[in-house]
Amino acid sequence: MIKKIKTLSSFLCVLIFTSSYVFAEPKQAAIASAHPLATQAGIDILRQGGNAFDAAAAITASLAVVEPYSSGLGGGAFWLVHRSSDKKQTMIDGREKAPMRSTHDMYLDKAGNVVKGLSLNGPMAAGIPGVPAGIEHLVKNYGRLSLKQVLAPAIKQAQEGFAVTERYQKLMGYRKEVIKQYPDAAQIFLNKYDVPAIGALIVQKDLANTLITLANNGRKGFYQGPVAKQLVSSVRENGGIWEPGDLEKYQIIEREPIVVNYNGIKVTSASPPSSGGIVMGQALNILEQFNLEKLDSITRKHIVIEAMRRSYRDRAAYLGDPDFIDIPVDRLLDKNYAGGLALTINSERATPSSELSNIATIDQIGTDTTHFSVVDPEGNRVSATLSINLPFGSGFVAKGTGVLLNNEMDDFSVKPLTANAYGLVGDHANAIAPGKRPLSSMTPTFLETDDRIAVLGTPGGSRIISMVLLGVLDFAEGNAPKSWVSLPRYHHQYLPDQVQYEQGGLSDLEQTALKDKGHVLKEKNRRYGNMQAIMIWKKKGLFFAASDPRGEGSAEVFYYP
Ligand code: DON
Repeated sequence: MIKKIKTLSSFLCVLIFTSSYVFAEPKQAAIASAHPLATQAGIDILRQGGNAFDAAAAITASLAVVEPYSSGLGGGAFWLVHRSSDKKQTMIDGREKAPMRSTHDMYLDKAGNVVKGLSLNGPMAAGIPGVPAGIEHLVKNYGRLSLKQVLAPAIKQAQEGFAVTERYQKLMGYRKEVIKQYPDAAQIFLNKYDVPAIGALIVQKDLANTLITLANNGRKGFYQGPVAKQLVSSVRENGGIWEPGDLEKYQIIEREPIVVNYNGIKVTSASPPSSGGIVMGQALNILEQFNLEKLDSITRKHIVIEAMRRSYRDRAAYLGDPDFIDIPVDRLLDKNYAGGLALTINSERATPSSELSNIATIDQIGTDTTHFSVVDPEGNRVSATLSINLPFGSGFVAKGTGVLLNNEMDDFSVKPLTANAYGLVGDHANAIAPGKRPLSSMTPTFLETDDRIAVLGTPGGSRIISMVLLGVLDFAEGNAPKSWVSLPRYHHQYLPDQVQYEQGGLSDLEQTALKDKGHVLKEKNRRYGNMQAIMIWKKKGLFFAASDPRGEGSAEVFYYP
């Protein structure tokens, strides 16, 4: 009873204080994205009679223009979709694929050492993009407007330019030296080889033309013909290994999402080649064994950290592209398996990661990205996480196309048990092979109870999964999106064996107590994540939307005229 009252009161508090909700009217919709212009593109398309899938395609294309540091036509994405007419739920997998000339050791030198930067900078780092094919797939199979209508806002934004913001400047700061090496990228994204001033306009004429070709010819406009030719020749001239067949053969795959039940909440999330749904599902299964709400905050965080440690360990051991390896999904998500793992958690002491069975000995049976959420009045919804990996991807723009290529190849395990840019390790499950998709952490998610529906996700590399997990736990406590996106964050990913937390993520007392339990703590020097979330309170017909205060995004709940 006490638990119920607490839950209800915290939910009501949020109801009263949140600014972005309206009462049910015949037609309302909601969008949360990382950039106001992308949210606006989605609203325009909904107002023109498009559904959530048309809006998702428009937002994807717009983000490719106005958030070049996060996603783009040269990158990949997972769009988790729910179609209300037949309740179909599917994950549209537009993840990049390794070029056919990739090899297991392509980033190692003769001595077997990783060549610094090769999987991160320039065309060698780029997988074959999936976003253009995904845009067409969404519109053709689920939308109701034409590709031309849906791409119109992004084309206009590319032609007219968007203004440089603080976030742009900060992320460019990390990648400027790489971008300077590639004149086509430097010309678009830098000002005389320097970070452009706030408010400077970034105009992308070549990208606008590539988008127009995509609008006119569909995926063929990107994966075949002059754009494809230009992409391949430019990559090759700059030391890359793409071939025309790589682009021509790229295929979108629809995959069954991962579904788990956590204390009565149906959690639907990304399936492999993302690790998101399985790792989060496994952690939730472990946490279900504890009555988290009854625990004090220190013990609760300790248990959550230990659940993260165990599920990220299995990520490293078992997960990769399901078209190349067998993943023991049923076992990993088995409640009994989670029960066994829960028993290994000592509520007084941290379990050193080295004491969990080493991933290499387990038998084999078995900083940038973006997220948006959209719900239309019919109840169609999309949760999409899109990426070119690090800020501004590989830093390389293929000449004449305006397409900034990803550096998603670094998401492979380029050498067994060697950490990637996010400190993640892996082994043969995620080894490089031609045509394979690198393992991702992107975790676009839906949550559903009798009463509420949620759509959420975030960028943040390896920390994506733990951020969404904390969001799910907050939803379970009855809180609304504004709370999920603002929550202080902490994280454990098995290796390195440390609890990472953002400034303010752990109180002084929690820090002392967790150290006392044997945890090694590591404060990140900045706040992380950029969560975009929507919730519908079904009974009252209330829509809530919230954009992470750490970013520059916008969340809108709006009526149709
Ligand atoms: O797919 C993945 O897991 C990564 N490429 C995501 C990268 C990311 O979120 C960077 N953001 N800060």
